[in-house]
Amino acid sequence: MSSSRVMATYKIALVPGDGIGREVISEATRLLESTGLSFEYNHVQVGYDVFKTHGTSVPDEAVEAILENDACLFGATTTPVGVKNYRSAIVTLRRALNVYANVRPAKSYPFPGIREGIDLVVVRENTEGLYSGIEYGNNNTAFTVRVITRRATEKIARYAFKLAMKRRRKVTIATKANIMRKTCGLFREVCLEVAEEYPDVEVNHLFIDVAAMNMVMKPKAYDVIVTANLFGDILSDLSAGLVGGLGLAPSSNIGDTFGLFEPVHGSAPDIAGKGIANPIAAFLSTKLLLNYLGEDDWADRLEKAIISVLAEGQIMTPDLGGIANTSDVTDAVIRTMHL
Ligand code: NAI
Ligand code: MG
Repeated sequence: MSSSRVMATYKIALVPGDGIGREVISEATRLLESTGLSFEYNHVQVGYDVFKTHGTSVPDEAVEAILENDACLFGATTTPVGVKNYRSAIVTLRRALNVYANVRPAKSYPFPGIREGIDLVVVRENTEGLYSGIEYGNNNTAFTVRVITRRATEKIARYAFKLAMKRRRKVTIATKANIMRKTCGLFREVCLEVAEEYPDVEVNHLFIDVAAMNMVMKPKAYDVIVTANLFGDILSDLSAGLVGGLGLAPSSNIGDTFGLFEPVHGSAPDIAGKGIANPIAAFLSTKLLLNYLGEDDWADRLEKAIISVLAEGQIMTPDLGGIANTSDVTDAVIRTMHL
């Protein structure tokens, strides 16, 4: 976004969703309000309730309504298992908005018990792969079609290499090209072609199983990891687990003209309604939203406030071993942000 919008009102599509999605997104807006910047929030509903009346979790009107904004802040939606024809709202939305790059940073914040020095980003292809939605079968045999296209792979690879140029200039391509020779073979080939456009970036290829093991054993070695949809989903939860869990894991979904920001976690039915969800994953996603809007100063202040609250270790939700509730954490972050 250009800085010429600085004095303008940012239009934000808010999709809180279900369970703790709602709880953390309302805290995130409290935080945005505290900046004094001007935001207009436009609430959009997607998910199972919408499915019951519209026959789809994400109607076209919802997509159009979201795109009328500068960006979207998304909470989490519950995907009921076993409902015929139901498709996950966020997976549908990512495709419909063509936000093809799912960018999931994992960074060690100062915090007891956390492994230091990890600073990596999983760049996950967001529109195809095993999440193509092409499935069929019967009680005996079932198929999920894995779709990999040159076009989508080029886009995600370019995103990853550009990102690496702004970081430590290292890209790891993770596939299973030894077994899935067609789909992973194409993914690897296209990534390596794109790599040639970035001679300053060190590139290597790993099989996904080895990539996962290395992520546990020597995570500091990674900078940017580029991979297909399902692999990226799994690797990014793994990387989140290395640096404090889902309560701290943010993500952005970036397309050519739009961005959607969301915590990595789901609606967490086990803790929903208790007021103890960790809002920091949503706050770090809000930080990425502020960067996207060009509000880098506020993004920095927010991240520093989060780091300081974590480092103090006094006000933390139970997932991090504390006894604070969600809004205590928000209060602490806002207070620190304005010191
Ligand atoms: P989940 O992320 O909702 O929860 C996994 C575990 O992590 C739970 O024990 C939960 O309490 C904990 N957790 C997650 N976020 C937390 C937070 N902010 N603070 C403290 N603890 C937190 O994943 P799960 O249980 O697999 O899925 C629950 C529902 O969410 C399902 O319906 C699933 O389909 C949906 N889901 C939605 C996503 C989305 O909308 N982007 C992503 C992942 C799951
Ligand atoms: Mg996941």
